[in-house]
Amino acid sequence: MADIQRMSIEFGCEPDNESFARVAVAAYAARLNPTLEEISDIKTAVSEAVTNSIIHGYYGRTEGKIIIECEIKEDRLMVSVTDMGVGIEDISKAMEPMYTTRPELERSGMGFVFMEAFMDEVTVESTAGKGTTVKMSKKITSDEQINDDLSMAVGYN
Ligand SMILES: Nc1ncnc2c1ncn2[C@@H]1O[C@H](COP(=O)(O)OP(=O)(O)OP(=O)(O)O)[C@@H](O)[C@H]1O
Ligand SMILES: [Mg+2]
Repeated sequence: MADIQRMSIEFGCEPDNESFARVAVAAYAARLNPTLEEISDIKTAVSEAVTNSIIHGYYGRTEGKIIIECEIKEDRLMVSVTDMGVGIEDISKAMEPMYTTRPELERSGMGFVFMEAFMDEVTVESTAGKGTTVKMSKKITSDEQINDDLSMAVGYN
C-alpha cells in the first residue's frame, strides 16, 4: 500500500451536497476500519464544515465551489474543506463556543466546537474576501468486525 493515499472531490454549494459530502468522506474512511462511532464523528465534523461553507462562505450566492481533500497516512485520516467564499475576519473569535454571525438563521455557534470535539486536530486558514480552508485530522482505531458490517452497508461487499 502507498505511504499516503489521497482523494479529492469538488461540488457546488447547493444544500443537498452537505449529505453527499459526509457520506463520501465516510465511505472513503471505511478502508481504515473505523468504528461506527468514529464514522459518526467524521460525518458530523464534515457536515459542520461543509454547512459553514454553504451558509456562511457562500451566503446569498447560488454558485460556489467546495473542495474536499482527504489523505490517509497510516492510521490517520486528514480531511480539508475549502471554499472560495467571504472568508473569516477573526478566526479565533469565530471558533469560540456560541459565537455566530447568523443568529437570525437560528445558528447556535457550535459548529467549530463539534469539529474540535469529534476530531483530534482542527485548524482554520481564512482570508477575508478570498475563502476558508478547515483542516481536520483523526486517528482511527482499527476494528475489523465492524468494518465488515460497514463495508456491507456502504456497498463495498
Ligand atoms: N466557511 C466559512 N466562511 C465564512 N465564515 C465562516 C465559515 N465557517 C464559519 N464561519 C464563521 O464562523 C462562525 C462560527 O461558525 P460555527 O460553525 O461555530 O457556528 P455557526 O455556523 O454560526 O452555528 P452552528 O454551526 O452551530 O449552526 C459563523 O457564524 C461564521 O461567522
Ligand atoms: Mg456552523
